[in-house]
Amino acid sequence: MGFARTCSVALVGVEGVVVEVQADLEPGLAAFTLVGLPDKSLSESRDRVRAAIVNSGETWPQKKLTVGLSPASVPKSGSGFDLGVACAVLAANERIAPPAIADLVMIGELGLDGRVRPVRGVLPAVLAAADAGYRQVVVPERTAAEASLVPGVSVLGIRTLRQLIAILNDETVPEETENRGEGRPDPLLAGLAVPGAGIGTGVCDRQTLPDLADVAGQHTARRALEISAAGGHHLYLKGPPGAGKTMLAERLAGLLPRLTAQESLEVTAVHSVAGILPPGKPLVDTPPYCAPHHSATMPSIIGGGSGLPRPGAVSLAHRGVLFLDEAR
Ligand SMILES: Nc1ncnc2c1ncn2[C@@H]1O[C@H](COP(=O)(O)OP(=O)(O)OP(=O)(O)O)[C@@H](O)[C@H]1O
Ligand SMILES: [Mg+2]
Repeated sequence: MGFARTCSVALVGVEGVVVEVQADLEPGLAAFTLVGLPDKSLSESRDRVRAAIVNSGETWPQKKLTVGLSPASVPKSGSGFDLGVACAVLAANERIAPPAIADLVMIGELGLDGRVRPVRGVLPAVLAAADAGYRQVVVPERTAAEASLVPGVSVLGIRTLRQLIAILNDETVPEETENRGEGRPDPLLAGLAVPGAGIGTGVCDRQTLPDLADVAGQHTARRALEISAAGGHHLYLKGPPGAGKTMLAERLAGLLPRLTAQESLEVTAVHSVAGILPPGKPLVDTPPYCAPHHSATMPSIIGGGSGLPRPGAVSLAHRGVLFLDEAR
């Protein structure tokens, strides 16, 4: 009766797998079935998508609706499929022309009011889409800069579902205001900014790192730091209290060269999955510096969590410095 498909991306660690989102409408008792190994947060997509479509001024099809995510064998989690599901349903219902979305990759969570909210891991998702040969992606506006880092892909950043429907149908695009509350920091990531400041992964901006030039003397330790930086070696500092161990170790990241383009994408992909890329500075092009507190928990150091796991300090320090102070 009505069929349409579009694409989205499932993340497995920091690797993306392109997933086809198919929507099928059949006459029958109104129902909405989602198949294809969704987890709990993805199953809730049904309710978000229905509310977002209705609150965007569209009609919900009173038919038997089946949405399938394939390959079904890849476990899928999170809310990033919402946008793809909503567009596939609208296209199956002939509100959008099905060919208009068939070659698009859509990533984004929908609010019940139809606003498109950012999700974690947009960069690795777009990298996977580019690798699979897709050339156009639709992402939440706030993550458009991050998505644009991938060469050869044209990025459409949107604020609401209404906007996307209008763009796809060549209608007048409604002016939408900035999504309220999106600029707020993730509460789960609060308290991470300064090395040693509380329990956390302690990722910090390299611009604020201290300089080795401040250290008086300490020629042997300085040489050890330089050799460690040049060769990418581990470094263990041992000495009496006040000898300057912490002071020296905090200056190691400042010695490392800038990341190459490939390394920058790798590191940025990990930080994107962690959801800690600062708005307005999507590319991490300097070696990261992570200094978790000595009382930090194991998951905060090695990563973890259900669904899409959050990288820990070890992963966030990829291609940079992981400083474990007081590591006895
Ligand atoms: N060679 C040095 N040049 C400049 N300042 C120094 C030097 N050595 C020590 N200091 C000063 O001493 C302070 C204490 O050093 P730091 O905290 O690094 O010692 P530590 O070896 O880590 O001690 P602890 O084992 O107690 O953690 C530094 O903040 C710095 O002000
Ligand atoms: Mg110390």
